[in-house]
Formats: sequence, structure tokens, C-alpha cells
Amino acid sequence: MSTIIKNGNIATSEKLLKGDIYIEDGIIVDIGENIQRDSDNIIDASNMYVVPGGVDVHTHLNLHTGSAVAVDDFYTGTVAAAFGGTTSIVDHIGFGPQGCSLKHQIDVYHGYADNKAVVDYGFHGVIQHVDDHIINEMKYIVEKEGVTSFKIYLTYDFKLEDQDILRTMKRLGELGAVTAVHCENDGILNYFRNFYLSREMKSPIYHALSRPEEAEEEAVNRMITLASLAGNAPLYIVHDSTAKAAKLIENAKKNKRNVFGETCPQYLFLDETLYNKPDNEGLKYIMSPPLRKKFNQDILWKYIENGTLDVVATDHCPFNFNKEKQYGIGDFSKCPNGAPGIETRLPLLFSEGVMKKRISINKFVDITSTKPAKIFGLYPKKGDIKIGSDADIVIIDPKKNMTIKNDMLHENVDYTCYENFELQGYPVITMSRGEVIVENGQFKGKKGRGKFIRRSVSKV
Ligand code: URP
Ligand code: ZN
Ligand code: ZN
Repeated sequence: MSTIIKNGNIATSEKLLKGDIYIEDGIIVDIGENIQRDSDNIIDASNMYVVPGGVDVHTHLNLHTGSAVAVDDFYTGTVAAAFGGTTSIVDHIGFGPQGCSLKHQIDVYHGYADNKAVVDYGFHGVIQHVDDHIINEMKYIVEKEGVTSFKIYLTYDFKLEDQDILRTMKRLGELGAVTAVHCENDGILNYFRNFYLSREMKSPIYHALSRPEEAEEEAVNRMITLASLAGNAPLYIVHDSTAKAAKLIENAKKNKRNVFGETCPQYLFLDETLYNKPDNEGLKYIMSPPLRKKFNQDILWKYIENGTLDVVATDHCPFNFNKEKQYGIGDFSKCPNGAPGIETRLPLLFSEGVMKKRISINKFVDITSTKPAKIFGLYPKKGDIKIGSDADIVIIDPKKNMTIKNDMLHENVDYTCYENFELQGYPVITMSRGEVIVENGQFKGKKGRGKFIRRSVSKV
């Protein structure tokens, strides 16, 4: 099967050129001006941007939190991803039973994703305890299972202590694997949570007040120190929500530390005043870290622009407002943490980033696709428009204006945080390995067509 995409404005993280792309059997075979080849399909991309498919390296499909299960599974979540122009995800594996092996949860997640996903997918492993068995198992997981990054938490039930983090990072660094970290200081959170709950201060705003910026800053600072002591092991800070934490990442990079930074659309577009919405609507925004004060937003954009923040991923972790989120009525601490966003990431960043001239089209490609693919070992198969790469391609119409309504989205959840946001530009075609899976609002893919990606180690 062959396809030619004609006359597009082809954007990579480095270049913008007008031309054609020729695809054969799912692979990009030729890129250039006025390519003359016979092909089964022709797509006219005149006046459109043609970009590499989005790579979302922070999702929580099917996540079991204890009190609730995230309501997008690997089918509904990846259909929504495809509509929003994302063609690969790397999902964060949830915690398993106490003391389980690394492979245990990877097998569980293969069970969740196989025959369901419609775009290609990988998994970040999770380190929930550390002992000799876990340390020895890492090599097998990295080299044989194709899982080359692992998440650790500094809070929640299976948080790790510093000595275990050092052991973990030392070994993962030797293997070339990346340690991704949820950075919040657990003691600070516990103190403030108890402080507010014991005074009957339980409405959604106290979720934010009980997780102050300093808790994130302290944890990021500590992780940069521990990564350095572990031999400059690769460290990836997930969901940076504050300017101060980003400043720490900037300084670490200046000091040649092997640190990468991620933020998410919610920290660029939403702020903590939303927790005070009437009718308990503040519960929609209960996520960790919480939404912050608005002044952070412009500074986070600056850190995207200067390369401190390498990636914008979603942390997609949806719960219905009318069901699971209601557990938090009368007590914010009972509300499952997380919010949807897998479908709106590229449209928001294209409209508010590229069209509003906060970032170039090349930076847009870099933060949504190329850099995450490189950091997490999906590159060059994913993350670029390049000869030999998978033809994971998104066509964006910069003239298509959309007002976001939850009704038009495909996330399996009853709200979006971006209701009524007005966007300039929207993805109109999503292609995965040469197959058009979304075209003009129609899903054309098949359940289960997505393939597991055996990732290599980082290419940055
Ligand atoms: O609130 C959030 N972000 N929930 C998902 C799990 C995590 O901490 O990333
Ligand atoms: Zn997290
Ligand atoms: Zn997360």
C-alpha cells in the first residue's frame, strides 16, 4: 500500500519545507518537492501543516487508584488520542500488589492494552519497592521487555526513600534507562492535609493549599541531587507545575546534569482559582500537583521556549465528574486525583502556542513529538518525518476554528477542563504507520491495530 501526501507545509523539529511525502507499507520512503510516483492514495495537504504524530509519554489508561479506575481504557483512550493527533503513547503502569516483581505489572498492562489500543504504545515500568530481586530484574526488563524507563513516586502509598532511590537510579543509569519522578514532598503534604482536614477546611481549594509549591520545589531539588550522586543518571521530572521547579531544572541543565523536564497543558492554561467554582465543580481539577497561581503560566512558556522544559505531555487520568469525582464532595482528600486531556494536547498547543506565536511550529513538533520520542527511546521510528521512520503523520488545518465542547471529544469522560476554549487550527487527518485512522471527524482505524513498542534506551 502506498500513499502520497502532496503540497503540505512539512514541519519537523528543525525544518519547515513545502513538499510531498511518499509512504510505502507504513514507512516514509521519500520526502521532496513534486514527487512523481504512482501511489494507491493521494492526500492533498495544500495550506495545511504536516507534522509527526504526537507522542504522549504521560498517560494513565485504566489506572486503578484504590477508590476508582480511570475511565479511559486502552481502546477509548487511544481513539481519543488519535482524534487529537497523538499516534504513540507511553503509559505509566499503576502499582501492583505489595512486593510484586517489575514484570508482574508489565504483564498486567499487556493484558489491558493488547487487542485494544488503536495507536502504538509502550509502558513506563514502576518501582514500588527496592530489593536485590528488583535491582537484578531491571536488566531483563530493559533489554528483553523493551521497557526502558521507570517511574518512582516521592508521595502516595509506594513512595520510595532516598537510599532506595539512589540504588534504583544508579542501576537504571548503568543500563541507560530513564528514571521518571513524581516530585512532591510527602511530609509537607501530610502535614498540610491534616492541618486543613482537622479544621473542617475540606472544599477543593484546600487540595491546592495542602500541596504548596514548596513541596514540589523541595522534591525536584532533592531528585536533582540524588541523580547527580547516582552518577548523573538520566532523570525525567514529570508534570512540572511551577516556575520555581523549572528554574531548578534550568540550573541543573546549565551544570550539565542529565535532567529532562515535562509540563502539561493544565499548568499552561488553567489556574488555582478554578478550585473555587460553584457547585463543587472545583473537583474536576483535583490533580497532583494541583493547579497553581496564574503567574506561573507565562514563565512555564518561557521555559518551554528556552529548552528547560523538553516535553509537554498530558498526565491523562480521567474520572467522571458526576461519578468518581463526587467522592470528594465534603472532603477533597477522597476525590480521585487526575483529569482528562489526551485529545486536546496538540490542538491546544497548536492554537495557543503556534497560532498565538508563543512558540514556533518547530518547537511545537519538538515538545509534542520529537523530544519525547528521543528521551524515551522511540526515535527515529517515531517522532520525526524522515526517510525510514514510521509514517505516523498528522495534518493540521490552521484555518479550522473549533470551540472545544466535551460532546465533540472522544475521551470516555463527562467533562473536559477546556470547555468553550476557542481554538484556531485543528488536526484533520491522523495517520498511523501509513494508515489513515482519523479523517475529518471519522474514526477509520480498527480496535487492536496498535502495536506494543519495544523501546531502546534514550537517544538524547
Ligand atoms: O493527579 C494525577 N496527576 N494523577 C495521576 C497520577 C500522577 O500522579 O501522575
Ligand atoms: Zn504524578
Ligand atoms: Zn501522572
